[in-house]
Amino acid sequence: MKILLINGPNLQLLGFREPGIYGRDTLESIVSHLRELAAGFGCELIDFQSNHEGEIVDRIGNSISEGISGIVMNPAAYTHTSVAIRDAIAAVKLPVVEVHLSNVHAREEFRSRSLTAPVCIGVVAGFGADSYELALRALCSHLKKRNQQ
Ligand code: DQA
Repeated sequence: MKILLINGPNLQLLGFREPGIYGRDTLESIVSHLRELAAGFGCELIDFQSNHEGEIVDRIGNSISEGISGIVMNPAAYTHTSVAIRDAIAAVKLPVVEVHLSNVHAREEFRSRSLTAPVCIGVVAGFGADSYELALRALCSHLKKRNQQ
């Protein structure tokens, strides 16, 4: 099974960007850890980072023809603004787990609203880089159960 990992704007700066909020792990180190974890579940992890909303929309739209089974996604700031990303997820009907490093509910009020969460199967937030691992585990477990049905 192929799992797509999508990271939105500014996440290429992880490790340097506001480390008190987002931690010191770089995106590269998070991706390489997730790739190993996915392999242990018999899955291939395909990673994609973009600062551009339309590129993320395109990537979600192409995920069916790419043979993707599920998506782990940190839409970053687009979480709070993007109707287009929400509609793309609703269109492809793939299971998506939304991830946030920080606890978005304990920060500025505008961060507690997610436009994308209602079309995801679940959300993991507040555990730093571990949020990604928890999300991947949850997605793989969801896919495994679904395949057994
Ligand atoms: C974030 C939270 C968002 O509010 C913010 O815009 C980000 C990162 C997180 O992982 O905690 O860029 O998605």
